[in-house]
Amino acid sequence: MNKKLEFSSLILLLQIMTPTNSLHNGLALRPPMGWMSWERYRCITDCENYPEECISETLYRKVADILVDEGYKNKGYEYVIIDDCWLSKSRDENGNLQPDPERFPSGIKNLSDYIHSKGLKFGMYEDYGTKTCEGYPGMIDYLKQDSNKFAEWEVDYLKVDGCNADTRKMDKGYPELGRYLNETGRPIVYSCSWPAYQEGEDMSPDYASIAKHCNLWRNYDDIQDSYYSLMNIIDHFASQQEVYIPNAGPGHWNDPDMLIIGNFGLSYEQSKLQMAIWAILAAPLLMSTDLNSIRPEYKDILQNEDIIAVNQDPLGIQGRRIFKKLGIQVWTRPITPVYQTYYSYAIAFVSRRQDGVPYPFNVTLQDLGLYYPGGYKITDLFKEDPALVRVYKPESIIKFRVKPTGVVFIRADINN
Ligand SMILES: *[C@@H]1O[C@H](CO)[C@@H](O)[C@H](O)[C@H]1NC(C)=O
Ligand SMILES: *[C@@H]1O[C@H](CO)[C@@H](O)[C@H](O)[C@H]1NC(C)=O
Repeated sequence: MNKKLEFSSLILLLQIMTPTNSLHNGLALRPPMGWMSWERYRCITDCENYPEECISETLYRKVADILVDEGYKNKGYEYVIIDDCWLSKSRDENGNLQPDPERFPSGIKNLSDYIHSKGLKFGMYEDYGTKTCEGYPGMIDYLKQDSNKFAEWEVDYLKVDGCNADTRKMDKGYPELGRYLNETGRPIVYSCSWPAYQEGEDMSPDYASIAKHCNLWRNYDDIQDSYYSLMNIIDHFASQQEVYIPNAGPGHWNDPDMLIIGNFGLSYEQSKLQMAIWAILAAPLLMSTDLNSIRPEYKDILQNEDIIAVNQDPLGIQGRRIFKKLGIQVWTRPITPVYQTYYSYAIAFVSRRQDGVPYPFNVTLQDLGLYYPGGYKITDLFKEDPALVRVYKPESIIKFRVKPTGVVFIRADINN
């Protein structure tokens, strides 16, 4: 066999193998979208002093109301996900998980029913170890019993953290838990923190197995409410892209963690940057912010339909950083429509510059690997630069300016 033939049969083999290599529950064919409490609300359990912010049924009911009333649900945000600190410190007399009785007086099934009554989906949190990260009962000796409990509560999404656990046991343990979830018969999106804890201990996670057993997985550190933390995660995803990208696709996604847009740490430009890169990365869009008091311009970023469409592109190909030059990093993601062997692309120009003025940048599409002879229709996804919007040939020069620590985010659709 010559080299070329070998290569094309490898591609064919990969195409045949992909479906059997991923989790077969038919879920998360697009990156999941919703709201999760952790980044903004952490482990506030003092409902006397912080009645609006404490981890309680009131908080999640309110989020469900706002997702519907303020148009988030219509844009695709559908999961309301409880993170840590919902549990009672002890299991009940039969060993079952139970919520904190003061903060969840109506019980979990009641909350689940409420969220479902709004046409939304319900997500919960547990931990593979002896205790959750905040010290509540973990699943380790109760994998099957807890799986049944989650199914009984009609949970649609389960995040399984990895604190207080033996990371070497995760290669067997997470798949075992996945089997119990499957055996309940309830479709439950399975979010694993397995690789994040292994990477944290300098192990090389078995991503082929992770993609086979989980719908999504956290690769790296938790996001914190700062530009520094955001860029640290983005840099990490760029540095590991050859490892991460092959495992992403419909039903199985890398997860760089929650959207922090609307909180305290990011400027307006930096918030647009997170939304753009999460779309390039085919990342889950899980907001973690106070939707009740969010400023309209941040809400607009979260509800930008054109960017959500890039994030949810049906091909599910994770994008990559292709080069950096003069403090501008260029990221691209192949998307639909596809014509012959040519993809359309989402393209983000990320400025790491801090020198005051919007920085002028010139580039041709062929510099970015876009060669379709008929050219591409460019759309400015934040609708800020009307001069950008027209058809460009691969060799024509595109000129624009990128704001300090900001982004210019465009899509280039095959022009035919
Ligand atoms: C759920 O709890 C609320 C508030 O406690 C109550 O009004 C409602 O009747 C309960 N619903 C169900 C289905 O139990
Ligand atoms: C359980 O796994 C089987 C085999 O992969 C799959 O066909 C089925 O849809 C899964 N069921 C659920 C509820 O996840």
